[in-house]
This record gives sequence, C-alpha cells and structure tokens, in this order.
Amino acid sequence: MEKLLDRITAAVSEAFVNCGYEAEYGKVTISNRPDLCEYQCNGAMAGAKKYHCAPIQIANKVAESLKEQELFSEVNAVNPGFLNLKLAPAYVQEYLQGMADDERLGCEKTANPKTIVIDYGGPNVAKPLHVGHLRSAIIGESVKRLGRFVGHKVTGDIHLGDWGLQMGLIITELKERKPDLVYFDESYTSEYPTEAPFTISELEEIYPAASARSKEDEAYKEQAMHATYLVQHGHRGYQAILQHILNVSVTDLKRNYANLNVEFDLWKGESDAQPYIPDMVEKLKKEGFAYESEGALVVDVKEDTDTKEVPPCMILKSDGASLYTTTDLATLVERRKLFDPDEVIYVVDKRQEMHFIQVFRCAKKTGLVKPETDLEFLGFGTMNGKDGKPFKTREGGVMRLEYLISDINEKMYQKIAENPEISEEEARETARKIGLSAIKYGDLSNQASKDYVFDIDRFTSFEGNTGPYILYTIVRIKSILNKYQAQGGDLAKGRIPVAENDSQKTLELTLARFNGALENAFDELAPHKVCAYIYELANAFNKFYHETKILGEENEEKRADLVAVLQLTKRVLETCIDVLGFEAPERM
Ligand code: ARG
Repeated sequence: MEKLLDRITAAVSEAFVNCGYEAEYGKVTISNRPDLCEYQCNGAMAGAKKYHCAPIQIANKVAESLKEQELFSEVNAVNPGFLNLKLAPAYVQEYLQGMADDERLGCEKTANPKTIVIDYGGPNVAKPLHVGHLRSAIIGESVKRLGRFVGHKVTGDIHLGDWGLQMGLIITELKERKPDLVYFDESYTSEYPTEAPFTISELEEIYPAASARSKEDEAYKEQAMHATYLVQHGHRGYQAILQHILNVSVTDLKRNYANLNVEFDLWKGESDAQPYIPDMVEKLKKEGFAYESEGALVVDVKEDTDTKEVPPCMILKSDGASLYTTTDLATLVERRKLFDPDEVIYVVDKRQEMHFIQVFRCAKKTGLVKPETDLEFLGFGTMNGKDGKPFKTREGGVMRLEYLISDINEKMYQKIAENPEISEEEARETARKIGLSAIKYGDLSNQASKDYVFDIDRFTSFEGNTGPYILYTIVRIKSILNKYQAQGGDLAKGRIPVAENDSQKTLELTLARFNGALENAFDELAPHKVCAYIYELANAFNKFYHETKILGEENEEKRADLVAVLQLTKRVLETCIDVLGFEAPERM
C-alpha cells in the first residue's frame, strides 16, 4: 500500500497545482502540534517569496480547494501560513482495513531488491564474548531483519577474528603444556585426531594466560609470532590446532548468539580472506596504486575535501606481513566473487571509523569493488555503566556476556515467579524472553552512533520506554483476545471501525504509519526509529484501552470491531519486535 503520508502529500500537492502553484510546495509532514492537527503543510511559507504574496493568501486558497477532498475532515489555514490538516476518520478506517486484510500489513516489498552483505558480530575466537560484542550483534541482527522485511536479499556474516597473534599465542602455550601432542611432531601430516586437545573453558584460560606472559617474556612473544607465521604459511600441525580452536570456539559462540536470538548465515572469518591477498597485492602494485613508503606498501587515500588527516592505507608491513586493512580489502574481493553485493554494511564500534574510511576509499579507488557498490559504516557508540564509563563488572573487570544475560534473566525470573499460577518452567522461559527484550530494546532505542548508559533497573522496568513495557502491551492484548474467544467471540468477524473519539483516532493514525516507519528505519539504517514508533503505538493503545470498554461493550458487532483494532495492533507490534530481534511470551 502506498504510504499514508505519500497519499496526503499527493492530494495537497495537487491542490497547490490547481491553485496555480508548484507541486513541491505541497509536502506534508506529521504535525508537531498534535493538539491542533494531525498533519501539516508549511509550503505556503516557502512559496510566498516566489509568488510575491503573503503566505496566508496561498494557504487560504489551497485550503479552500482542499475542502472538497474526502481525505480530510478538517483543513485550516492559520497565520502566518500553515495548513493544518485532520484526516477523515472513514479514510483512515479504510486504510487500516486494507492493512488488516494484507498479510504484510500494507508494507510492500521494495521494487528494487538489493543484494546486501552485513558484517556484524566480529568476535575473536578463543575469547569469551563480552559486553563489547553486544551492540554489534543486536544492531546488526536488527538491520538484517529490517532489510529482509523490506524485501532485500540480505546475508549476515559474523566475520570472525580468527587470524593473528592470538593463534600463535595459543599454540605456543599449548606446546609448553602438552608437548607430546601429535601436532607438534615434525612428522605430523593431516590425519589428525578429531578430538580437540582442549575444551572451551581451557581455551578461555589458555589464551589470556599466554597473552599475559607474552607481555613480560620477550622470547615467548617471539615464539608466538613465529608460530603465527608458521600457521599462516602452511604448518600442518599448527593448522590442525587452528581448526580445533575454530571448532571449539564456534560451537560455543553459536550457543551464545542463539541465546540472543542472533543468527548468522555465514561463519566466515578473517582467515577465509587470506587466499585472496597475493593476487590483490599484485594487482595494486601492477596498476600503480600501491607504492613503497618506509619499507611498507601503501595506497594513498586522502582527498582534497578532507578536514582531518586520512593516512595512507597500509597494504603490507615492511616485513611483508598483512594487516587488518589487508584482510578487510581481501574480504571485499571475496564477497564480490561470492555474492556480487550491491551494498556491504559494517556494524562495528565507531572507534574503528578511520580504518573503514581507509578501506572503503582504497577499495573504490583501486577498483577492488565496483564503482556502484555501496559501502556503509554503521559505527556504534559505547555501552557505559551508570558512572558514565565503559560498562564493567562490580569488581571492575570486563563483563562476560553470558553472565550479564543470566543476571538479567534471574532478575526477571524473580518478578515473574511472584505469580503462583505460572510454573517454574514457564517462568524461566518467560523471564528469558522479557530479559532479552530489556537488553535489546535498551540498546536499540538509542541512536546507534551514540554512547548510552546500560541501566539494568530502568531497562527491566515494565513501565516507560522499555522492552518489557512493549511486551506487556502485547501480552495485555493477547489476554483480552483470549477472553473474547473464551466468551464465544469470533476473531474473524470484526471490521476495523471508524474512530469515534480522540484516543481511537490517535491509535488508528499511529497504526497507519507502520509501513512508513519500517521503510524509513531501513533507509536510514536506524532501528531506533522502529523503537520510537512502537513506543508511540504502545502508548496510543494503552490510552485507548484505558478509555474504551471492549469486552464490556454490549453491542456485539461493535465489540467485534474493537477486537479487530486490537488484533491489528498486536500484529503490528509483533512484526516490529520480530524485526528488532525479540519476541513476546504468552503471559507475564
Ligand atoms: N574482530 C574485530 C574486532 O574485534 C571486529 C571485526 C569487524 N569487522 C570487520 N570487517 N573488520 O575489533
């Protein structure tokens, strides 16, 4: 369905044209004075200069011509030249019935579906997930779902950090602890045992231990660097260990991400891009883009309009080793080969912005990606504690994601368990769902690029702009619908009614904005706009519910119609939270 706002703009633009003005002045926006009107047009003010008259004259003329439109119940021209508009309730009713009858709630799939790769998650193997990984997972997952809902072909890639010194460190430490492992045997070939030589907990202990030691022990660090070199240059035994590290880590990561309702299509990593590096470097050299500077191989990426310094993009270090930039460039080459994407979106900490400016510019300039490929950096801010500093455990350490989640689930469980009717099992599952809504909504309701304070008490509250409040609203509707059915009501019977009062009208108008809200949120890669929309919708619903007798409505037909509004509200809210990556329980 065409967006309601577009329909209104079309009608007002037509009126401008009929009055002898240009159509572009007829742009309509949602009113910023809801006490006066629902929509407004400020075009008369903009056009006054061009048409050499007072804005109010234009507004009056257009208002007069709009009065015949069935779209509006009220059109007012007010000083100095605003057009204040109210929609005809019957028009809104018809629009909503169209939504209710449509499987996709009036949100058409895009006419130009794009192939998009989203790079998010980005955990490093052999290290537990910590709160620093939360935002990329939550925001990336939501952008992926939004893109799919709008109709694009979206592939989510976790892009594991599985290449680098951490591998050499683990191997070195393992060699000290278990020198008899077959992998360290010179004669080792590829027939390695399938059993991993460590568990995930061992791995998570080995890595930090090795990392700490390398900072004090220079010889140990040399050894680790050499091991890294060997694993990257075909040492069979070491590569077998690398494979074990990957397997053990990925199994654990999958479990952790599943707890967050986060699902990746691809479990590729930095290591997958390595085979593309030699040819890529060759090409950059041959075509004259890469040159040697102080021993290193670099590509200039600065532009005349830069306001801050953009250093050259380094392709190889002076010892010939590749870097983070090299890997990201090679990953673009790989993605082009495998997916030929129209767009690649990176959901990464905004402190990495300069790295991506360099990578994007280098990829474009050298033709590693097509000129029309859109490279987007969706940089997010830091998740802070209540003290305004990066979120830490009470002891001041880095908080493991698992612990954070179980803390919140426990907190939610305590609240749910107060209800004696709910079984232990249901209470646990419900707590998990509400807990997840608290974490995700708490994050997503902020503009991604901003830092925010992770305030558990606020996020888990059932009141205010929170995930649990949204779930509470959905559960409330579910419970009314259940009661309605228990009383013999038929959910298929009602039609959306013409709004009879302000709170119903507000609810219906808010529902009608659904398709616009989602399209807009994707265009701007802004899940927070979905949050803002459902918060408004939940408030509109609760106000309506407070003021309206529903199950108590005596007229059977009218009751069925009110129930139709409830069902539509529920579907819209459920679709939106699915896009945000969480779900509602049956009761709470
Ligand atoms: N593993 C990286 C880190 O921990 C994040 C990866 C982000 N994605 C990318 N293509 N560079 O910082």
